[in-house]
Amino acid sequence: MMLKKKLLVFSVFISLGLSVCAQSKTEKPLLQVIDSALTKAVAQYKYLRTQLPPNVLPKTWYPLTKKFETSNSSWWCSGFYPGSMLYLYEYSHDTALLNEEKRVEKILEKEQYNKGTHDLGFMMYCSFGNANRLMPSKEYDQILLNSAKSLSTRFNPTVQSIQSWNANAKWKFPVIIDNMMNLELLFWATKYSGDSSFYKIAVTHANTTIKNHYRPDYSSFHVVDYDPATGAVLHKQTAQGYADYSAWARGQAWGLYGFVVMYRSTKDKKYLEQANNIAKFITTNPSLPSDNIPFWDYNTPEIPATYRDASAAAITASALLELSKYADAQKSAKYLAFAEKVIRSLSTPTYTAPIGENGGFILKHSTGHLPGNSEVDVPLSYADYYYIEAMMRYRAMKGKK
Ligand code: GLY
Repeated sequence: MMLKKKLLVFSVFISLGLSVCAQSKTEKPLLQVIDSALTKAVAQYKYLRTQLPPNVLPKTWYPLTKKFETSNSSWWCSGFYPGSMLYLYEYSHDTALLNEEKRVEKILEKEQYNKGTHDLGFMMYCSFGNANRLMPSKEYDQILLNSAKSLSTRFNPTVQSIQSWNANAKWKFPVIIDNMMNLELLFWATKYSGDSSFYKIAVTHANTTIKNHYRPDYSSFHVVDYDPATGAVLHKQTAQGYADYSAWARGQAWGLYGFVVMYRSTKDKKYLEQANNIAKFITTNPSLPSDNIPFWDYNTPEIPATYRDASAAAITASALLELSKYADAQKSAKYLAFAEKVIRSLSTPTYTAPIGENGGFILKHSTGHLPGNSEVDVPLSYADYYYIEAMMRYRAMKGKK
């Protein structure tokens, strides 16, 4: 990185640190902070809707060039915008948000038959899963069941895993830690249909992930590549992290969230233990800044003069809030306090953009793929989704409808 750029990143880091410290002197009750953040989020997403051309989904916005980037429905993030609209509708009862979500459903619906991606959990469960939770219908059931069937076609019984990306020049059968997030859809499918094969695939995939993705300190490799003919591990590498051996921040968050869902869905204590161990790696990490918003990789040597990942923080907060319900009292209090701090930090002007700015996205300062020089220090639709989800979870835990 050039010196000038390094200095810029360092000064952003200093200002991120200082602004959050200043805020702790005048602390408002968190529920008030959340109500104000969600009210702003509703207005911001109504603005975002006005920015969106027909038939595409919002992806990110580049602060330097002011470029708004969208995707088609097959991009892994296509479910987050409708999912956020649903959470915000649930909060506000503002039918403009629901109408927008219904419009987008029509664009997304065809992905139920997409067998070319492992991301169907993200795409279909964050959208149609939430729609079905709020407004159950046979149509939603069928879309979700078809999506689970499509996802299951990527399971290889020899490898004992669902294949993430298709084979390429580098990898034969790559499985990424992110894939833990797609299992919730499979648990839903067994509950709905009574067909236990979805449940078995989810459990088998999670067990293989514990065996091959996790290191003794409960950090995770990003990519494990297998030989599809024998199931042998060929490589343990990274795609979006600093190095093969490092702990890419969002990957740690995906793993945590995934194993919390595993415990919720099976009640098998081994998954609770896994989630607690990952939570310990994240929440006690020496490289974590005082506002609890991690750098994009826990091991990049550029810390502290490098970028944060607000998306990793939001995913972690949402997962820890749920984990606090299952963990013993001591851990539970720690998880709750950690998640509360994340929500407070993300709700400050340091991370939350003013309404009508930031391309219409709520949060600033996420990192999508730094080694690929793509989506660096930008808003991301999934940072917004998990931030909103965390706030909705917190409200529900405090008895708010
Ligand atoms: N699933 C891709 C990512 O987290 O960037």
